[in-house]
This record gives sequence, structure tokens and C-alpha cells, in this order.
Amino acid sequence: MRKRVLCGISGMLAIAGLLAAWTMSGRAQEPAGKAAAQSAPAQPKTAEQQFKNIEVLKGIPAEQLIPSMQFITTSLGVDCEFCHVAHEMDKDDKKEKQAARKMITMMMAINKNHFDGEREVTCYTCHRGAAHPVATPIISSETGGGNHGAAPHVHEEEAEAHSDLPSADKVLENYLAAVGGVEALKKIKTRVQTGMIESPEGQFPVQVYSEAPEKRVSITHPPSGPSVTGFNGEAGWMTLPGRVHQMTAAERETARIDAELQFAARVRHEYAEFHVLPGEEIGGKKTLLVTAKAAENKPALRLYFDQETGLLVRLVRYAETPLGRNPTQIDYADYKVTDGVKIPYQWTLARPGVAFTIRIERVQQNVPVDEKLFVAPAEEAPK
Ligand code: HEC
Ligand code: HEC
Repeated sequence: MRKRVLCGISGMLAIAGLLAAWTMSGRAQEPAGKAAAQSAPAQPKTAEQQFKNIEVLKGIPAEQLIPSMQFITTSLGVDCEFCHVAHEMDKDDKKEKQAARKMITMMMAINKNHFDGEREVTCYTCHRGAAHPVATPIISSETGGGNHGAAPHVHEEEAEAHSDLPSADKVLENYLAAVGGVEALKKIKTRVQTGMIESPEGQFPVQVYSEAPEKRVSITHPPSGPSVTGFNGEAGWMTLPGRVHQMTAAERETARIDAELQFAARVRHEYAEFHVLPGEEIGGKKTLLVTAKAAENKPALRLYFDQETGLLVRLVRYAETPLGRNPTQIDYADYKVTDGVKIPYQWTLARPGVAFTIRIERVQQNVPVDEKLFVAPAEEAPK
């Protein structure tokens, strides 16, 4: 029963766009206060300072522990209880947890000794979504030994080999033009979207309030009570009835991407090291892939543009963890011109284990938005 409830909760948070650590373990892990939410503390806590029983992940930032656990969980295709006693994560009762410790040590040693310390080999390299890696080649008529749906691994340097492709500048310019151009974008100060969210938990109403340059609050209404995800340019939060989670630094950077009303205009300035590659077909459309690395600690991006319309049809972003990168994929569809700008009326967010689709029915722009919506909630929600 408890399990089901937790699944529901994590689903709802995913709906909000971000999967919070505390839903997975069933309790708040991160006591980041308001001050911490506004500017990263100079000396962030390490995992062993915050958690009880850390041996091999000593030294990693405490807020990276749960994202690392999520990476492990996805890589092995298991749930937390595969290694952990439910709600007592510090216990070492399960042999799988002890095996995992050895594996983490092994993985780090392989990378250190054989890959100049670069994180080339991860849990996923061997496990590929299974608890038991396969050592013998599988004969499969279907895939001919294919890659099990894994994202094709393309090295950015390969871009150089595709000299017939347009430059990243050109692709991003086309994108900006396709959505209406910078002047039209600048005229949009606020946006209020209402529609429905479709998730494994069911269909619920959703409202999204945005304000330029980068404030955004989305509210979904499942029967269990409203679930809110907010970002105001500095602080980010996720709330469920009776619970508040302040976003970690990494979560805030992904929330910022979603919140940017003028993303099409700003992406060129906020990211660096663009590369263009042929993209895979998405929804029957040929695409161009632009990879972008960020200055600072923003997540790396892969942007897929429809070759015909120039519009962004897929955004994949990666959140770094000490063990590997956690992917999130957002597919945009049903672009319509609204007040001179083209915006998607549908998007599907997917990450390992969760997916939901939002369909917008109504868009109002440049209407007043209640500023109270963008005020970060206090640490504890009233009971
Ligand atoms: C494949 C095994 C495995 C899976 C699956 C796994 N963990 Fe862990 N977890 C570990 C290991 C190993 C450690 C201890 C790391 C160390 O010693 O440095 C750990 C430590 C933790 C801790 C710190 C506990 C403490 O107080 O010392 C938490 C919290 C945690 N895991 C949460 C999770 C959550 C939440 C999930 C599911 C998303 C999860 N883990 C999935 C292996 C696993
Ligand atoms: C170099 C390849 C490789 C890497 C990298 C790797 N593993 Fe493994 N892992 C294996 C093999 C092989 C086994 C043994 C499979 C078996 O028992 O069938 C195994 C077994 C395990 C088991 C025991 C499963 C069970 O049911 O007893 C756990 C847990 C595990 N790995 C976790 C991890 C984690 C977590 C990582 C990343 C930190 C990782 N592994 C990285 C190859 C690897």
C-alpha cells in the first residue's frame, strides 16, 4: 500500500517536471533552507556528513547522493528495495547493497586505471538495464544484436565529418525565426496555459504560469490534492499537500531551462560548444541534432530540430551525478501561432521509469499573473 502511494507521489512530481529525491526514499533528505536555496552555500555538505553509512561515495556532495542512486537504479532496471531495506537506507542487510559497493569501487578503478580518470565506464555500460549483465552474445533475429533501445552514442567530434550540415549558428537562427523572431518573443511577458496532464496515475487538469524572463509555476490537480512545481529565477520548489521540497542546485538548473520564456533567443548565449549532427527521425520527421555544453554547471543539452520547419521537437538534458548522467527527454508537438509566437500545445516528458504528456487547451499571454505564485514556500507546509 505504502509503495503504491509513494509511486503515485513520485509520478506526480515527475508531472511537475522533476523527480525529487525524497519521494523515492519516502522522506525529506535535504534540509536546504531558504538561504541555501538562494545561493549555494560555500561549503556544501558531503554525503558522509548527511547520511549515516557512506563508505565508497565519501566526498561527493550530499545532494548528489540520491541522483546517483537514481542512476544506479535505472542502470540495473531495479527499484530501491533491490538493495535497500525499505525506509532504512543506511542498513547493510542486503547482499545486493554490498555487491553494489564493490561495483562502485570497481567502476572507479576501471576509469582511473584505464581511461585516464574520465568517466567512460558506468554501471550502464555492463548492466544495460539488467541486474545480471550478459556475458555471452545473444542471437536475436530482431535486433541482430542491437543496442536495446539505448541512445546511440555519438561523439561530438564526429560532427566534423559532416561538413554538409549547416552550422549550429544557422540551425539556432532558423529556430528563433521559426518561433517568430526575437522581437515577437520579447513582447510576451507572461503566459498562462491550461490543459490536461496524462500520466500513469490518470488524467488531471494542469495550469502553467510563466513570466519573463524565467519564472514558472505549474500546478496539477490529482485527487490527492494539488502538486506544485515552481521556479522564480533563484529558488525552486516542489510541493504536495503537507510537504515542501526545496530544489537542489542541479534541479534548479533544469527548472530554469523549462522556465525560460525566451529560450529560443537565449540558448545561444547561455550555452557554448555547439555541434551539429544528423538527428534521428522523430514522429516521422527528419531532424538535425545540436549538442550544447554549458558554461558553469548547467546540464548538457541535445536539441533536435525539425529539418523542414526549424522547430524544436525534442530536448534531452542530462543531469550529472558522480556515477553517470540521468537523462530527461521532452518532446514538443502541436506548435501553434499565438500572439505572433509559435508555441507547442503538447509536450511529453520522459525519464527512465516515468513519462507524462501535457496537452494545452487554452493559452493567454500578457495577462496579469499573481506574483504570490512565484514566492517560494516556507520550509514546512502547514499540516
Ligand atoms: C544496486 C544497489 C542500490 C540501489 C538499487 C539503490 N541503492 Fe542506495 N545505496 C547503495 C549503496 C551501495 C549505498 C552506500 C554507498 C556507500 O557506502 O558509499 C547506498 C546508500 C544510500 C543512501 C544513504 C543511506 C545512509 O544513511 O547511509 C540512501 C539514502 C540511498 N542509498 C537511497 C537510495 C534510493 C532512494 C534508491 C532508489 C532510487 C537507491 N538508494 C537505490 C546501493 C543501492
Ligand atoms: C565491468 C562491468 C560491470 C560494471 C561497470 C558494473 N557491473 Fe555490476 N555486475 C557485473 C557482473 C558481471 C555481475 C555479476 C552478474 C551475475 O551475478 O550474474 C554484476 C553484479 C552486480 C550486482 C549483483 C546482482 C545480484 O543480483 O546479486 C549488483 C548489485 C551490481 N552489479 C551493481 C552494479 C552497480 C551499482 C554498478 C555501477 C556502480 C555496476 N554494477 C557496474 C558487471 C559490472
